[in-house]
Amino acid sequence: VKKGLKDYYKAYFPIGVAVSPRNLTDSAQQQMILEQFNSLTPENAMKMRPIHPQETTYNWRDADAIVNFAQAHHMRVRGHNLCWYKETPDWIIHDKDGKLVSKEVLLSRLKEHIYTVVNRYKGKIYAWDVVNEAVADGGDEPLRNSVWYQICGEDYIFKAFQYAHEADPKAVLFYNEYGTESPVKRERVYQLLKRMLDAGIPVDAVGLQAHWSVNNPSQEALIASIKRFSSLGLKIQITEMDVSVYTNPYGDITDADFTPEREQKQADLYAMAFKVFREYKQYISGVTFWNVSDKASWLDNFPIRGRKNYPLLFDQNLRPKKAYQGVINF
Ligand code: XIL
Repeated sequence: VKKGLKDYYKAYFPIGVAVSPRNLTDSAQQQMILEQFNSLTPENAMKMRPIHPQETTYNWRDADAIVNFAQAHHMRVRGHNLCWYKETPDWIIHDKDGKLVSKEVLLSRLKEHIYTVVNRYKGKIYAWDVVNEAVADGGDEPLRNSVWYQICGEDYIFKAFQYAHEADPKAVLFYNEYGTESPVKRERVYQLLKRMLDAGIPVDAVGLQAHWSVNNPSQEALIASIKRFSSLGLKIQITEMDVSVYTNPYGDITDADFTPEREQKQADLYAMAFKVFREYKQYISGVTFWNVSDKASWLDNFPIRGRKNYPLLFDQNLRPKKAYQGVINF
């Protein structure tokens, strides 16, 4: 049997990948997933809008397919996610007349959602991203001014963790966020987590999404994040790793080539990051990539629709790239 990432990292942490059911039914990808990874995250299937499109309708098909595949192949599953401003279905925030609901109604709907989803996969999903991206990037307000925040203040964050813990006391509960390598955002996330811990909220861990690029983050910034969050006694996972080949993914919008120079910079960043993860393995309990290969990445449509990115360790033909070598050579 071929040696894969999960084997190289056996003494460190599980190596995961985000998938849709289609990744699993394609036989070449399926084989590769089984060789390389020992953990799965549903890339979209468990988000609130797809899994719970109407108040009385749950759509379990895709989520079940991923969990069943994992069970059949002895892989672990991270649930993603229970509450995210971007995949909030209209029915949960509006009443029948189209007006925003009260805090009481929103929280009771959130509770029903979390109880139902967490309970269905109890014992099969070992960790949940409970709340995703609740902290603001800039501005004066530390918390994102989402409709959840407008209706509930920060209570919805606290309550979401309580509901998830009630539904499955054994699940490891994560707050998941991007951009925590920037000092301002890191501090905002830290303060939120600290308030939760001080209030006795059952938060166990922090997920660093790690949607990075060839020149970001620096080693210092990455280490600073790991140290800051672990000082709270929380576990850390890298939950959505990919490394955009664009120096400024939001800026150089027309320059869309995977040049040898970019390939090298990407390999360097991956090598640096994994060296840090290995050095800090006592705090890092998992690393997950955000999809399988450069064949299809969400970055091909974000922030620019149709601009190809090449952010993963495997190329469009599922062959390991230079970045892969940087991750396994140690
Ligand atoms: C992305 C998926 O990869 C896309 O397929 C989907 O269209 C939008 O969401 N942060 C997260 C993930 O927490 O859920 C997002 O996933 C990427 C950014």
